[in-house]
Parts: sequence; structure tokens; C-alpha cells
Amino acid sequence: MSEHVTYNFDQVIDRRHDRWSYSEKWSDSVATAEHCGVPAITDDHIALFTADMDFRCARPILDALHATVDHGIFGYSGIGGNDRYFSAVRDWFARRDGWEIDTSLVAYSAGTVAALNACVRAFTEPGDAIIIQRPVYPPFAKAVEGNGRTLLDNHLVRHTAADEQGDLYYTMDFEGLEELAARPEARMLILCNPHNPVGRVWTEEEIARLADICSRHDALIVADEIHGDLLAPGVRMRHVAQVAPEARVVTCTATNKTFNLAGLPATNVVFSDAADKECFESALGHANPSPFAISAAIAAYEEGEDWLEQCLAYLDGNIRTVVAYMAEHLPDVGVRAPEGTYILWLDFTERCRALGIDGAELHRRIYEDARVLLQDGVNFDPQGGEFFQRMVVPSPRRVLLDACERIARVLS
Ligand SMILES: Cc1ncc(COP(=O)(O)O)c(C=O)c1O
Repeated sequence: MSEHVTYNFDQVIDRRHDRWSYSEKWSDSVATAEHCGVPAITDDHIALFTADMDFRCARPILDALHATVDHGIFGYSGIGGNDRYFSAVRDWFARRDGWEIDTSLVAYSAGTVAALNACVRAFTEPGDAIIIQRPVYPPFAKAVEGNGRTLLDNHLVRHTAADEQGDLYYTMDFEGLEELAARPEARMLILCNPHNPVGRVWTEEEIARLADICSRHDALIVADEIHGDLLAPGVRMRHVAQVAPEARVVTCTATNKTFNLAGLPATNVVFSDAADKECFESALGHANPSPFAISAAIAAYEEGEDWLEQCLAYLDGNIRTVVAYMAEHLPDVGVRAPEGTYILWLDFTERCRALGIDGAELHRRIYEDARVLLQDGVNFDPQGGEFFQRMVVPSPRRVLLDACERIARVLS
């Protein structure tokens, strides 16, 4: 076991100029400017649009990566027969969530979006329909439509302040789901749990109901659970495969979000069925993990928990800070602390109404005048997202506060 380290999440690390950074989020390239919908990215733009953390990784991960460098040979690498890798993955989920994984049913993917696309190709045919639940992470829709499948949106239900759970609480429309899943062309549902961007961690009851509907209508569940370690205090993660062991389900788990390892991808795709695993691997094609991804994943799952607990406490503080800031300075901007993820889903509808501006002007003021890069709500919800913005908050607190102050200045 590694020694206890106290991490400093307040440290601001320059990811824009450091020559070893290669950060996409902090890039000032023309492509990133285009992605963010701004004419150019300047030195003082604050980037809060991509879901990666501005914190250094856990010490044991850095040590493992140094040891891998010192080995000095970086040939083809793999995890086949690597008991240490599979035990680390299995023990992590058993210990934290009580979910027992059969590691013979785990496939590796260099990233979750790649895995979602492979699932679409492996388990559906062109013309088949796939259900997603907007507002949701945009690559879900792209995986469906980009592969020539039909998208069915079982839109989430947004609750308001008058409802028991309060404003910006989202639930699933189970009647709608029943109706869509019953269509003969509906072959798959892609679930986001915890849900990016609305922050719900689906309860056991909700998951059981969803699994029942999908099973009865023979729709495969692909559960993207890669935010599943990022939970608010007191919230429990329930995996679909755990709640509904009889269901046909493909679960994506990953080190990416939990340990800030998006650049060293290790998505572990867990199947309920050996034939599905084989089919997936053939659709995915050749995809060896890098030796760095393997070393990092083992160290993360074996020794990263101490860092994660400190990180979660800091993230909770960040979320509270932004929510409190908005309540004080922009009280008509809707925001609530998520049950899971480090993502805030901000509703500027009332603010825009008060200012008499549309979504394009909201974007211009925040991205160009305030120089804060968020992500437009329309990407998550083309119909209803005009006045929403997504903010990711795993940055040093004073950077976040700076961003909030700038946003308040241009919207007051
Ligand atoms: C729900 C969800 N799935 C997948 C991804 C991306 O995963 P990867 O980088 O491993 O493809 C993200 C990143 O934000 C995400 O939020």
C-alpha cells in the first residue's frame, strides 16, 4: 500500500502553455475555437466545457507511469491473461458498489465513445432504431445516427420548483419508454448513469423498471456508467447489471472520469453474455491498450481510492460554491447540485427573458464577453436546450469563481 498523500486541488496548473500538456480543453487552436463557437480563443479564456479535471493524478498512478517509462520498451501490449489488471477492476466494483463482475466477460476498449459505436454496429442493423433519453451527452445521438440507425428520444421529464423533488430534477418517462421499446424496430437503449448532463444517479427502482421494459421488448441495454464513481456524499451507485442480473446488458466502466485519465483510455466493457462479448470485439476491431493505460488503470484501481475520496470532497465543495454563487448573484439562473458527475446543467431561461436576449446572444456574452467556455445546451437537447449551458467544475475553486463572476458581470 502506498503512503497517505494530502493532495492540493487548489493548485492552478497551466494546461494551455505547458509544452507537455497537449490538452484539448485548454487548446487555443482554430478547431477548438470552432468547436466552442468563438472567433478565437485568447489567453484569458477559461475552459469549463470538457469533462476532464484540471487536477494532477494520484501519486500511485504517476509512480506506475514513471516505472513504465523506466522499463523503456513500448511495444504492442495487451491485458489478455493479466490477472492483476482484471483483479484490480473486479475488486474495485465489488468493494465500492457490491457489484460482482465476471472478468471473463470483460472486453477492453480504448475509450467509451468507441465502445458505444461498436455496440451499435455489433448489435443492430442499419434502419434499426435505438432509444436515448435527451438531454444527453451528444455522442450518443451521433453513435446512433452516424451509423445509419434511427434515433428515438424518450425525453427525460424535467421537474419544477413546485414538485416534491424541486427544480431541475429529472425523471424517466416510463410510459414513453414502454411505447418506444414496443416498436418492432427498437433494438437497443443507451442509458447514461449517472446521467450527463442532468446529474441523476438512477435509483434501483428506476433501473429495475427500465430493465423490465427493455427485457420484455427484447431491447439490449447499453449502460454508459463511466461517471459512476463520481457521486455526491451519501449517494449510492447501482449498476444495471447488478440490479437486473437477468437482463441483456452491456456496461461501460472506465478509469477516464474517475481518475482523470481520458488521455490514457481504459474502458472496461462488461457483458452479460459471452456471445455478445465476441460480437462486440469483432465490431471493435484491433484495439490494443497502451502500456501506460494498463499501468495507470492497475495503479488507479489498486491504490487510487485515497486520491479519489479527497477529490470527491473537493468537487462537492466546488459544486456548493457555484450553486451558492448563482443563488446570491444570479438567482433566476436554475442550477442544482447533481447526485453524480461533476457537471452542472444551468438553465438561463428566466435570465434571458429578463434581459430580452436569445440563446445566440447568451452564448456570445458568456463565451466572447466573459471569455468563459461552457457547452451549449442544444448539443444535449436540440429541441429544448437553447437557454441551457453545461459547466464542468473539476477545476481549482478560484478559477471557477472567476468564471462565475465574469458570467454574472455580462448577464446582470
Ligand atoms: C457519459 C459519457 N460517456 C463517454 C464519454 C467519453 O468517454 P471516452 O473519452 O472514453 O470516449 C464522456 C465524456 O465526457 C461522457 O460524459
